[in-house]
Amino acid sequence: MNGDQLRQSFLSFFAERGHAIIPSAPLVPENDPTVLFTTAGMHPLVPYLLGEPHPLGKRLTNAQKCLRTDDIEEVGDASHGTFFEMLGFWSLGDYWKQDSLRWTLEWFTDVLGLARDRIWVSVFAGDADAPRDEEAIAVWRALGIPAERIRPLPKHDNWWGPAGQTGPCGPDSELFYATGKPMCGPDCGPGCDCGAFVEIGNNVFMTYNKTAEGTFEPLRQRNIDVGLGLERILAMLGGTDVYATDLYHRTMAAIRELSAGQRADLAPDRVMRRERIIADHLRAAVFMIADRVIPSNVERGYICRRLIRRAILAGHELGMPSPFTAQIAQTIIERYHQAYREIADQVEMILTEIGREEERFGQTLTRGLREFDRITSDPVLTSGGTLSGEIVFRLFDTYGFPSTLTAELARERGLVADMAGYEEHFRHHRELSRAANQEKFKGGLADHSERTTQLHTATHLLQQALRDVLGDHVHQMGSNITPERLRFDFSHPKKLTPTEIRAVEDRINA
Ligand code: SER
Repeated sequence: MNGDQLRQSFLSFFAERGHAIIPSAPLVPENDPTVLFTTAGMHPLVPYLLGEPHPLGKRLTNAQKCLRTDDIEEVGDASHGTFFEMLGFWSLGDYWKQDSLRWTLEWFTDVLGLARDRIWVSVFAGDADAPRDEEAIAVWRALGIPAERIRPLPKHDNWWGPAGQTGPCGPDSELFYATGKPMCGPDCGPGCDCGAFVEIGNNVFMTYNKTAEGTFEPLRQRNIDVGLGLERILAMLGGTDVYATDLYHRTMAAIRELSAGQRADLAPDRVMRRERIIADHLRAAVFMIADRVIPSNVERGYICRRLIRRAILAGHELGMPSPFTAQIAQTIIERYHQAYREIADQVEMILTEIGREEERFGQTLTRGLREFDRITSDPVLTSGGTLSGEIVFRLFDTYGFPSTLTAELARERGLVADMAGYEEHFRHHRELSRAANQEKFKGGLADHSERTTQLHTATHLLQQALRDVLGDHVHQMGSNITPERLRFDFSHPKKLTPTEIRAVEDRINA
């Protein structure tokens, strides 16, 4: 089964069970200013999980484009990635655990053919906020999963959400598949990362709303939120890693072709890591640009820039000829343009933006190398033969030099880079940006007062009016809603004239 067949199999299975297939929302949350990117299938559905009726009913399913950038530095191993597709299905105050767990299990076993006796599950063990999930345990038992393969785990493992500071959340039950690798000890089981188990899906029983005070109050309606990682399932079915699946087939082949024989001195695992970074990051960039995230120095654009630049550096380290990114991006476009219209529609823009970023980064690298030369020929800055952690971090932050590259260049000049010092600066910086990101969670759709609901509706009217007056090139680039006012960012090459503004206002009022 290839990736498209897997996606289709899932959607058909749930459509046959009464779920309306909804399109993937964009990677940039449309009505939620509180996060940079869509990180889960439930994310665009928050208003409906909180009780607003969905126009397509109480049962929904889709494949949602997601981006998670917390683990960016770990990309390159077999399991961490940035962009992924989440297969999801939802009950908005409709059916409950018995159906959701049964259908999840049936799709895995009856449709995909996974062995039932290799499925393990975890359930919420219970604490002061919510009781042990006896109901899920009973359902799993009735479905034929024996008690020893049902593991109750604490909140840390078996509670999902909210996606921000506040919002819908609840206990969950994860499914794991025993890989065949022996368990590492008596305590090994679902949740252990020794490789004996791979997590293949998560059923969240959304029964609570976490408030700003940190308490959990019952939701108006109880929902089911199920998410399964398409890439991970595909890899598991093929007995390989994600990068060996059909999704990356052409891309990895192109990377290998362009880097063939260039760096025989690099150990195979280091080569593989760089190949994966290029594939993962450029795939994410293709999807981001298709959703109009353009490389820049701020917020989303900065993440896009960082991903492309990390891919370029990895390519340089593999000795790939530059420019190479557009050629690799082309393989990704070919793989996805049928399933995702927004990619087919914007091939030109995607290739141009990626190519342009490679050109710009070429200039930055040259400047960075000049800066590096200046620093390393300064006797004060290099006294004691050490390059301080602060300098290593500055080269990373300003010129995008990864610390490993700086360390390597330093070594060539007989210097030692202070990597521990660098780590400390890096951690400090990351904490600052996490805190800044968390700030963004305040407000937004989790605040569900009547006033914000009205302003939310008004943003939709505003967007349509802008398109009617200015043209279909107008796209939402962000929005921010508080009980006092709304803000709406959109794409348009010029400042609006007073006449255009009036036309937009009149259209909305009409
Ligand atoms: N929201 C849950 C997750 O991301 C299930 O879809 O795992």
